[in-house]
Amino acid sequence: MNQSATYNDRVVRQFAVMTVVWGIVGMLVGVWIAAQLIWPSMSMDIPWLSYGRLRPLHTNAVIFAFGGSALFATSYYAVQRTCHARLFADKLAAFTFWGWQTVIVGAAITLPMGLTMGREYAELIWPLAILVALVWVAYAIVFFGTIVQRKVKHIYVANWFFGAFILTVAVLHIVNNLAIPTSLTHSYPIYSGTVDAMVQWWYGHNAVGFFLTAGFLGMMYYFVPKQAGRPVYSYRLSIVHFWSLIAIYMWAGPHHLHYTALPDWVQSLGMVFSLILLAPSWGGMINGIMTLSGAWHKLRTDPILRFMIVALSFYGMSTFEGPMMSIKTVNALSHYTDWTIGHVHSGALGWVAMISIGSLYTLFPRILGLKEMYSTRLIEWHFWTSTIGTVLYIVAMWIAGVMQGLMWRTFNDDGTLTYTFIEVLKLTEPYYLLRLLGGMIFLSGMFIMAYNLYRTWQTAPSKLQAVPVIQPAHA
Ligand code: HEM
Ligand code: HEM
Repeated sequence: MNQSATYNDRVVRQFAVMTVVWGIVGMLVGVWIAAQLIWPSMSMDIPWLSYGRLRPLHTNAVIFAFGGSALFATSYYAVQRTCHARLFADKLAAFTFWGWQTVIVGAAITLPMGLTMGREYAELIWPLAILVALVWVAYAIVFFGTIVQRKVKHIYVANWFFGAFILTVAVLHIVNNLAIPTSLTHSYPIYSGTVDAMVQWWYGHNAVGFFLTAGFLGMMYYFVPKQAGRPVYSYRLSIVHFWSLIAIYMWAGPHHLHYTALPDWVQSLGMVFSLILLAPSWGGMINGIMTLSGAWHKLRTDPILRFMIVALSFYGMSTFEGPMMSIKTVNALSHYTDWTIGHVHSGALGWVAMISIGSLYTLFPRILGLKEMYSTRLIEWHFWTSTIGTVLYIVAMWIAGVMQGLMWRTFNDDGTLTYTFIEVLKLTEPYYLLRLLGGMIFLSGMFIMAYNLYRTWQTAPSKLQAVPVIQPAHA
């Protein structure tokens, strides 16, 4: 068959498999640093095992290696199916895979060596940052090239979200990484002082908004209807959701810099936009959840759908919690405490990881020429380990965080602090143990997934047939 008449699922398979691999690696490092916070001597005085070096390794591995690979896999899969066209430029698509893996391996080497730009979520040294930019431009060409070649007039809403994610991340990455190199591994940012902080958190917050949210909403809009066997609940709502979300997210970054040298009015602006952000976020969540109307009974038997619904619930929860934490008086309590870490992981484990896992379970059999995964029971087990792991993690961090915030701000009559830092730390220890347990349970689910995928692959035809592009009915 003519190659252009088939889908390019090779690159989808590559990214999908690497999602599981990097998920395990990134979460393993997460579990390790969670343990280090209880037993600091685990670093054995070896510099590259120190907490400060492994923490960015964790964040980079889970966000960019695990989350990034999931986004590449699902966007490449969905854009081909919704555009009725093969992925544009096979070689460029292959470059995005190998280029992205090179970036990840580069990160895994440089970060433990202590080579870093020192900007949160943008730690990679400038040669790697340039490679990221190149891969990203290639990604944009492949994705938008496919949209241009589409055989249907309409551009499905999932592609709008994926497209916004790709474009915005390119802009964020380039602006935040502008720097003057002084050697192969060191550079100075071109910004300084408060402006530097603002650029960093404009980047940081929109990395959350576009990398960890818009892209995964694209995933949601394609895979939830697919798995539920129902159309999106309201297409009109999805358009309102899209435009309001991308218009509002951009302004909320200053909530990361409350009570700093940033002008007061900028902080308040960030707070107000964060509060408004609740509306589009919940609009999206409702649209996702209501897509199941008429198919609720499927939740009883389909653990993949359950992954998706629980992911949407955590999305709703973290996008309610975020606006609350952006209120300056609430932030005065939550900032610097483990409450922030709880918020992060209700978004990261509950939303990002769970929607990715659900989508991958929908995707795997389809790219392996099969009808379903090797074992539904194992998916069921994975669902419970993920849910229990996430709940243990975030409940532990909420209690620890609120406790820390309250104890730190308790004063004696003479104005001295009632509790020493070490007293608070000691009381936090049981919650760190609970978080570690939650993390280990979540990680165990990833191993179950890897095993299930391996067994599924074994049942796949030895020579995978390329899937023909479906011709639109009215073409
Ligand atoms: C087994 C699962 C996981 C465990 C045990 C874990 C553990 C941890 C720990 C111990 C920290 C450092 C907290 C601190 O410094 O006080 C952390 C930070 C972080 N993790 Fe995870 N993590 C897991 C999964 C994930 C996933 C899947 C994501 C993203 C998709 C993620 C994103 C982050 C981010 C963004 C931070 C930095 C938070 C901040 O600076 O406020 N984690 N994680
Ligand atoms: C309406 C949506 C959201 C709003 C308004 C919001 C707001 C906030 C606020 C106020 C903080 C604390 C800032 C600080 O005290 O330093 C925060 C931290 C954070 N949030 Fe959210 N959040 C939202 C949704 C999400 C989601 C869905 C995720 C993950 C998928 C997420 C990931 C994070 C991360 C990673 C941080 C820690 C950043 C850092 O300090 O390293 N947020 N968010």
